[in-house]
Amino acid sequence: MKTKVWLSALAVVLLYACSSTPKPTVAPEATVVKKELTPELAEGKNLYEGSCGKCHQLYKPSSYNAEEWKPIV
Ligand code: HEC
Repeated sequence: MKTKVWLSALAVVLLYACSSTPKPTVAPEATVVKKELTPELAEGKNLYEGSCGKCHQLYKPSSYNAEEWKPIV
């Protein structure tokens, strides 16, 4: 009797595991459309990439909101 209960529990777990396999989703970053940069933005990009990536990996702009970026920059 105990074995039967155990086996049906296992079957339920296995069925659940198979049915809920998540589909691979595309990372949101990959779908971001490249924007045309104004000269001012291009200068900022150069400045950011040139001065901020010397000591550590560049942080994504989306890692912080506008208020959080102010003291950092
Ligand atoms: C002289 C080296 C150096 C330069 C240049 C530098 N950083 Fe950093 N930065 C660090 C160190 C050290 C840390 C702390 C360790 C870490 O998080 O990697 C840090 C941390 C940070 C953090 C995380 C802060 C937090 O609260 O977790 C951000 C964001 C950041 N830097 C942005 C910038 C930006 C933007 C620039 C360019 C304006 C810049 N960094 C230039 C050395 C530098």
